[in-house]
Amino acid sequence: MQSRTVSELLSQDIVIKEVEIKGWVRTFRANRFIALNDGSTINNIQCVVDFEKFDEALLKRITTGAAIHIKGELVESQGKGQNVEIQVNELVILGDSDPETYPIQPKKHSFEFLRENAHLRTRTNTFSAVMRLRSALSFAIHKYFNDNGFYYMHAPIITGSDAEGAGEMFKVTSLDFNKLPLDESGKVDHSEDFFGKETNLTVSGQLEAETYAMSLGKVYTFGPTFRAENSNTSRHLAEFWMIEPEVAFMDLAGNMDLAEDFMKFVISYVLQNNREDLEFLDKRLHDEEKGKPQAERSDMTLIEKLNFVNDNHFKRVSYTEAIDILRNSKPNKKKKFKYLIDEWGTDLQSEHERFLVEKHFKCPVILFDYPANIKAFYMRLNDDGKTVRAMDILFPGIGEIVGGAQREERLDVLKQKMAAINIPEEELWWYLDLRKYGTAVHSGFGLGFERLVMFVTGMSNIRDVIPYPRTPQNAEF
Ligand code: 4AD
Repeated sequence: MQSRTVSELLSQDIVIKEVEIKGWVRTFRANRFIALNDGSTINNIQCVVDFEKFDEALLKRITTGAAIHIKGELVESQGKGQNVEIQVNELVILGDSDPETYPIQPKKHSFEFLRENAHLRTRTNTFSAVMRLRSALSFAIHKYFNDNGFYYMHAPIITGSDAEGAGEMFKVTSLDFNKLPLDESGKVDHSEDFFGKETNLTVSGQLEAETYAMSLGKVYTFGPTFRAENSNTSRHLAEFWMIEPEVAFMDLAGNMDLAEDFMKFVISYVLQNNREDLEFLDKRLHDEEKGKPQAERSDMTLIEKLNFVNDNHFKRVSYTEAIDILRNSKPNKKKKFKYLIDEWGTDLQSEHERFLVEKHFKCPVILFDYPANIKAFYMRLNDDGKTVRAMDILFPGIGEIVGGAQREERLDVLKQKMAAINIPEEELWWYLDLRKYGTAVHSGFGLGFERLVMFVTGMSNIRDVIPYPRTPQNAEF
């Protein structure tokens, strides 16, 4: 007999009678009702045990967390809450679970506690739903690009360049720290290192993706990215996944259209395909918000928020307009912002981004044409000489979710910008070559995958949407 999944057995069109299933016990009620889950769905299947038919010693081993194998008959359920249930004929314990020490008891656990038990937290409804959605979103992302003629490009993880020019990188070396080779000036001599030069974990695959866009036309990367920024916030990870499309012959307006169309596609994909998990998380969020003061509660449910993003045009606003709005806003005038806005040129903080999205425009916002000196060197300089063709997409509850730009395609301007921030031309000779041989307008963006998963699942801490979060002072598991 073929072993089935809970998801298959609970689906309406299965008409088999004799069934076989394996999974983990969620609860065992009244020595009779096992709630069994195998990860295939948020729902458990009820397995009914006639305790007279089974040994008491065996029944005692049906504890929360135990792995079991059941053979029985799929029948219409007598009780409420499910259409079908399994009348158990045979039951084998595959793996015992000690009820005294098993951390995931059938009760509400705090997310902090579950982070400490991240190896078992996908045994809970919330985390299994989040991780199924994470998987579905990854699939939707590949599907979107594949359906739209993009090639999937694997950017290197070890690099010799700092793509964002921010210097927040983890070093990669095979040198012995207790016997570091030094050069004449007393600095570490990387010519003796594994790669013969200083190397780091990548902060972005963009520069390499640009090289492929300038030959294959439309490409995207989707891979791990590392940042050694010491921001211990609910939105930052030291290791996160980023999706970076890059397209030749596309300007900033095209980049905005692509980002909006792409985000809407992946969100509608999960709305159509992951309904049960979303409904569960929608209810979870609603329950969580009930405990909050009115002012902090969202006026939309999770699913309403996802539909809202899909149904509304992303508002496009220049940085200069945004600064005017913020400067004249109530929280700025009443000094409620932690960082007050008074001058053009200041970088926006998350409180400002969230004000624009949640209070002022009340929809996703694309901010563009930022001051050149707060953005990366590779962004195209506008004719005003002081702004660049950058764009950030801001989402409700999240703030910045996407960062992108039209790239500087003019060799002389790019060289000047690199010189201004001391990036040696030798370090990026290959990047400059793109501007020497068949340069063209091109653009792209980076979507922080975990921030997307946060938005879609309604989870408020980025540590809860990646299997094993890497944050300052924390690399357990
Ligand atoms: O704005 P960022 O730094 O842009 C880039 O890296 C560009 N090279 C992208 C491109 O144009 N191809 O990062 C892009 C996105 C941010 O909007 C955010 O969603 C996410 O990556 N991100 C982080 N997510 C989690 N933890 C961090 N420490 C993050 N830093 C950026």
